[in-house]
Amino acid sequence: MISVRNLTKRYAGHTAVNDISFEVDRGEIVGFLGPNGAGKSTPMRILPCFLSATKGTASVGGFDVFKDSIEVRKRIGYMPENVPLYDDMRVKEYLQFRAQLKGLRGRSAKRATGEAMDICSLQEVRRKMIGTLSKGYRQRVGLADALVNKPDLLILDEPTNGLDPNQIRQVRELIKRLGERHTILISTHILSEVEMTATRVIIIDQGKIKASDTPQNLIQRLQSSGTVHLEVKGQKDNIIASLEGLSEVKSVTTKNSQQDWLAIDIQPHSNVDIREQLFALAREQNWPLRELYRDTASLEDAFVNITGTKP
Ligand SMILES: Nc1ncnc2c1ncn2[C@@H]1O[C@H](COP(=O)(O)OP(=O)(O)O)[C@@H](O)[C@H]1O
Ligand SMILES: [Mg+2]
Repeated sequence: MISVRNLTKRYAGHTAVNDISFEVDRGEIVGFLGPNGAGKSTPMRILPCFLSATKGTASVGGFDVFKDSIEVRKRIGYMPENVPLYDDMRVKEYLQFRAQLKGLRGRSAKRATGEAMDICSLQEVRRKMIGTLSKGYRQRVGLADALVNKPDLLILDEPTNGLDPNQIRQVRELIKRLGERHTILISTHILSEVEMTATRVIIIDQGKIKASDTPQNLIQRLQSSGTVHLEVKGQKDNIIASLEGLSEVKSVTTKNSQQDWLAIDIQPHSNVDIREQLFALAREQNWPLRELYRDTASLEDAFVNITGTKP
């Protein structure tokens, strides 16, 4: 659906994106993740032909972004950062106007507007002036605008920016539902955002792509250490010797002990989950056990690990 090759965008003296290449397949929900100023919005503006590139190529649905802009625009619904809207238009009137701009006429423009308002739960505010709407509703009007002509690809630049947690949840649910019908490229600087919605994450930092993988794989890469914490009661030397006797165990470190309880960190050899063996061992040895858990990494850890900075 999207193919970007060696794309570079330079502003006077400043390189916003530097030689990036990526693909997005039909049906994917791809999340651009990176801190402010990383270079997320720049390719998102280039794809719908709002911005030229300094170098490189880009295509959408097989059409060249720089040569076939009309065909490309037909296929993209773009929701820019900070959704620009006409405050003195009513919601329905605005969406119909947008549908007409996108080439829909008469009844089909009306029908498309109705459907977009249904999808984005806007019917109850359809007669309201856009200027009077809450940020959450404005964001949904922006989404309805992006999808009114049923484009194959939705490009949504920080769609949950500035929303309260409730509104974020609603917009996130909506994006997930939209993903059933559209290919989506979405950007955010909030990790949990992509962890929950995206099928693939592209980490961008300082104008470069640092990683591209599923959220699960990014997290798993970090879990290769997968330390397990165990707290059991018993004779210390005996416990340590038994644990070190397990073939999957690389190292055993005892932490503080409270009375007879022994807190232990166990490092497995590779990315194996040894909790089941540990439980079996404790049962076999009759060690009372009061804690057994494995460190779970988050996408935040992945991000810090890959870029060395927090998003
Ligand atoms: N019109 C512009 N003129 C000069 N520099 C810009 C312009 N737009 C963006 N930049 C710079 O390019 C870099 C990347 O910007 P952007 O793609 O908007 O990042 P993000 O969306 O991740 O915050 C930033 O350092 C930003 O300051
Ligand atoms: Mg941005």
